Amino acid sequence: MIRYSANINVMMSAARKASKSILRDFGELEKLQVSIKGQNDFVTMADIKAQEIIHYELARAREDHGFLMEEGKNKNNIDENEFTWIIDPIDGTLNFMNGIPYFAISIALHQKDKLIAGIVYDPVHNDFYWAEEGVGAYLNDQRLRVKSKSSLDKSIIAMGIPFLGRGNHKQHIKSQEIVMSRVAGLRRFGAASLDLAYVAAGKVDGFWEYGLSPWDVAAGIILVREAGGIASGIDDKENPLLTGNIVAGNINIVKELKLILNS
Ligand code: IPD
Repeated sequence: MIRYSANINVMMSAARKASKSILRDFGELEKLQVSIKGQNDFVTMADIKAQEIIHYELARAREDHGFLMEEGKNKNNIDENEFTWIIDPIDGTLNFMNGIPYFAISIALHQKDKLIAGIVYDPVHNDFYWAEEGVGAYLNDQRLRVKSKSSLDKSIIAMGIPFLGRGNHKQHIKSQEIVMSRVAGLRRFGAASLDLAYVAAGKVDGFWEYGLSPWDVAAGIILVREAGGIASGIDDKENPLLTGNIVAGNINIVKELKLILNS
């Protein structure tokens, strides 16, 4: 039986409390017959409510920690405090909004210049992906390892696709064309934190996306690293937490993906 550390316990308990509100709203959304604007407002409210619950629980447990969060004004920089919680209350908002059960709560803990713990909680399946520096990565009580494939040809790769007003569409199509000719399958699931958790769990062999925010990637980065994988910038020099450009997988998969993405 795994013993969760105090930090992991605090994060799990905050996520579990927020998930009750999120799942209630997810159920409500199916019944809502509202305009797109009304639906957007409802989802924004769902996001804010969940974030408030997480913020309240974490602030109560650790009074001196800072916060970097997706919603609202309560945003610090990660270097303002020794410890910072990095939070996305609902990652995969578009899925959530459309009744697609692929979204997650993502919480990470950053100390000085590194990530020291993270959880990605998939409330629909009650799956806790969690990781702590030096302790490993887990799905509930089960230890995780990234897949050990030596090349792309039998691999399944997840990615993010740029959309209206976001990202470099032409560049993405070029990269996707090359990657799709070399892999067994490509997937676009729609919640980067859970995509990275899937890499850690070996459900997919790799992942890449450009232009994400720190709250989309923070918990996923530590999950992949603690599962023995690489989560790095697409350009060797960049820090994916700061630029949001990220490639993840085992060392061979990351090497091959980087060659394609940087060509
Ligand atoms: C989004 C998801 C999605 C990614 C987008 C993100 P959000 O986060 O992670 O997979 O492609 O770029 O913005 O807005 O649902 O928290």
